[in-house]
Amino acid sequence: MTAIDVEALKSELLEEVSSAADLAALDSARVGALGKKGKITAAMKGLGGLSPEERKTTGQALNAVKDAVAEAIDARKADLEAAALQQQLESERLDVSLPVRPESRGKLHPISQTMDEIVAIFGAMGLSVREGPNIEDDFHNFTALNIPAEHPARQMMDTFYLQDENGNPDFEKVLRTHTSPVQVRTMQSEEPPIRIIAPGRTYRSDYDATHTPMFHQVEGLVIDKHITFGHLKGCLQEFCDAYFEVENVPLRFRPSYFPFTEPSAEVDIGCSREGGELKIGHYDDWLEILGCGMVHPKVLQHCGIDPEEYQGFAFGMGIERIAMLKYGIPDLRTFYEADIRWLKHYGFVPLEVASLERGLTP
Ligand code: PHE
Repeated sequence: MTAIDVEALKSELLEEVSSAADLAALDSARVGALGKKGKITAAMKGLGGLSPEERKTTGQALNAVKDAVAEAIDARKADLEAAALQQQLESERLDVSLPVRPESRGKLHPISQTMDEIVAIFGAMGLSVREGPNIEDDFHNFTALNIPAEHPARQMMDTFYLQDENGNPDFEKVLRTHTSPVQVRTMQSEEPPIRIIAPGRTYRSDYDATHTPMFHQVEGLVIDKHITFGHLKGCLQEFCDAYFEVENVPLRFRPSYFPFTEPSAEVDIGCSREGGELKIGHYDDWLEILGCGMVHPKVLQHCGIDPEEYQGFAFGMGIERIAMLKYGIPDLRTFYEADIRWLKHYGFVPLEVASLERGLTP
């Protein structure tokens, strides 16, 4: 075996290491030098054919080459990693001085705002909020409210009847036509005294400038031992003054009929329509805003309350209608067209929560 040219091997291997362009190339240079089949390993194996003297010096020289190559690999690796990091930093560079992208801010829908105002006003009078299902059964929507089958009031309501599993009309399940079923559910599950409002969605098959198939109502119900029509009047007066932000809004109670109240009334507020502009207050015109009355004894009985001991009042009001009046929104249908320009115009700043103390309307 001829003597190994250690110097030539060293410079060859160091050259391979220093010319490795990336981490993968560096790794194959490492395997080619130091791996099991690498050049240094092969040279070590060749030592056996040398004289003992040569074996010693060449062996030492090869070990030194091995260390030098390993060291060069570590250094090259650090360089390549630093370069890769630098490249990544360059490519992911952020210009923090760029202006932000324009974001459009959300607005609260006038219905949500109006509901918040209603809850704030009645809440301050001591009434709390109850909710009920939008899909109601015949008993809660009609029968318990003293509207038996065949009663003409059922026709007046333009009810959406649901279908059973076979696609046949199911006259037991309806989309609630008013929020009054929440009265029934509350009286069934709670003991008097009861003081609640029930805001929520209601449904009737109707569509024009003043009717949409889905709309909102708020129901009011107060039951105790000595509740009179006077309490009803006072409660509604206080509500209208606070809501319309007009002192002593003129209220007119017109005798009316609902199967579930006796006596019943529809309530009008004083207004003016002069010059096509609607104003609420002390003028000589009237506008209907709600229905109300003293809860019918039969309704109390259906809900397990003794009419000899308890009585109370109820009212039901359309939320869209009073929102349109207060905020000058001319067409009901626009509430549900989901037009972002409309919402930007008529919507409310979401975090300015309606409160009697800080002002209802932002
Ligand atoms: N539920 C009635 C309606 O939808 C309103 C109402 C509620 C009237 C409570 C009297 C008492 O028209």
